[in-house]
Amino acid sequence: MPADVQALFKKHFGQAPTHLVQAPGRLEVLGNHTDYNHGLVLSVAVDKYIFLAASPRTDGKVALVSSAFARPELFSLSDIRPDPAAAWANYVKGVLVQLQKRRVNFSGFNAAIHSTLPMGAGLSSSAALEVATALAVRRLSPFTLTATGLGPPPRPDPRGQLPPLTPAERMALAQLCRAAENEFVGVPCGILDQVSSLCGKPAQVMEIDCAALTVGYAPVPGAVLVVCPSLTQHALAGGEYKELREQCAAAARQLGAKFLRTVELKQVQANKARLTQREFECAHHVVGEIARVVAAERALRAGDLEQFGQYLFQSHESSRDFLRNSTPELDLLVRLARHHPACLGARLTGGGFGGATINLVQHHAVAGFMAHMMAQYEKSTGLKMTPLVCQVVGGAN
Ligand code: GLA
Repeated sequence: MPADVQALFKKHFGQAPTHLVQAPGRLEVLGNHTDYNHGLVLSVAVDKYIFLAASPRTDGKVALVSSAFARPELFSLSDIRPDPAAAWANYVKGVLVQLQKRRVNFSGFNAAIHSTLPMGAGLSSSAALEVATALAVRRLSPFTLTATGLGPPPRPDPRGQLPPLTPAERMALAQLCRAAENEFVGVPCGILDQVSSLCGKPAQVMEIDCAALTVGYAPVPGAVLVVCPSLTQHALAGGEYKELREQCAAAARQLGAKFLRTVELKQVQANKARLTQREFECAHHVVGEIARVVAAERALRAGDLEQFGQYLFQSHESSRDFLRNSTPELDLLVRLARHHPACLGARLTGGGFGGATINLVQHHAVAGFMAHMMAQYEKSTGLKMTPLVCQVVGGAN
C-alpha cells in the first residue's frame, strides 16, 4: 500500500518522501514464450504492485531500503555494480545504468520499496521494480525517452504534475527496462513483462505485438482470473529459459526465418528432418501458440468465453508436451482446475519450470473453485497453496 511505503521511507530516512510511484505486476493470459520470438501475447496488469517512494539527494549516491530485505543498499551513481548479497537491488541498478547509457541526466536519491506482489508467483515483481525505478527517476529529474534517444524534457504543470506518458514513451521505457534485465541482471527475457506493467488499462486485455512493438486492447473476458502458485521453484536466471530461447533461435535459422513469428506450422512440419528433435518441439509450440493467440483474440471479441478457455487448456498442453517447461505440480494444478465445473480454462503462465497457473473461472463459483484447488493441491502434494484473485488494472504511474 502507498501508506506502507511512505511509512518505511520516513522510518529509514527521517522525513516524508517527495515522490511516490507504483508499478503493477502482470499476468500472461495466453502466448507462452512467444515474446522473444517476435510473436503475439495476451496479458493484463494486475492489482498487485511495487510501490516506490523517493526523495532527491545531493551527494551522487543512491540509498535503497526494501520492506522485504533486512539490509539497505547504498552506492554511488559513478560506480554501479551488481552486488550478489543484494540481488534485489540489481533491478534498480540495471535501470539506472540504462538511463545513464541514454544520457539521461539525473542525480542521487533515497528510495523505499514495498511490494504487494508475491515473489515467485509468476506475476513478474522484477519487471514492476524496474518500471517503478524508471518512473521514479522521471519524477525526480524529468526526461522524455523516444525510440531513438532523448526528446525535450516534459514540463510539470503549476501543481508540479508531469504530463502523462504517451504510448510511445511507455514502449521506449519498456525497452529500457528489458535491456536492464538482459544486460545487468543477466536474464534473457523478452519484453512481455515490462510492456504489461507499463501499458495496462483497467478491465482490458493487452494484445502485444512483440515485433511491431504495439499494443491493442480488448475487453477482459467476463470471468474471474485466479492465479494458483505451484509453490515450486521458478528460476528464470537458471539455464532453462536461456536454453529455450536458443532452441527457438536455432529453429528459426534452420527454417530460413529471422524469428519464428514469420513461420507457419506446415513449414515446421514439412521441414522436420532439418531440425533437431528439440528445435522441432520448440518451433511447433511457438508457431502453434502464436496462431492460438490470434484465434483467442477472435473468441474474446466475439464474447465466446468457452472457446477462449479451450485455448488456455490447449496452450498448457503445448507448453507441457512440446516446449516442455511445465512441472508435475503445474500439470496437477491444471488437471485439478479442469475437474471443477466452473473453470473455463487453465494453463501455466510465465516462464514455466515452476511458478503458477492462470485460471479463468465463472464469477458465481470463485469461492468454491478456490477451496477445491487449495484442498486438492494440499491433499496431493502436502503444500498449502493460497490462490489469488486478480483484478485488471491500469499501467504504472
Ligand atoms: C517470462 C519472461 C517473459 C516471457 C515469459 C514466457 O515471464 O520474463 O519475457 O518470455 O517468461 O512467455
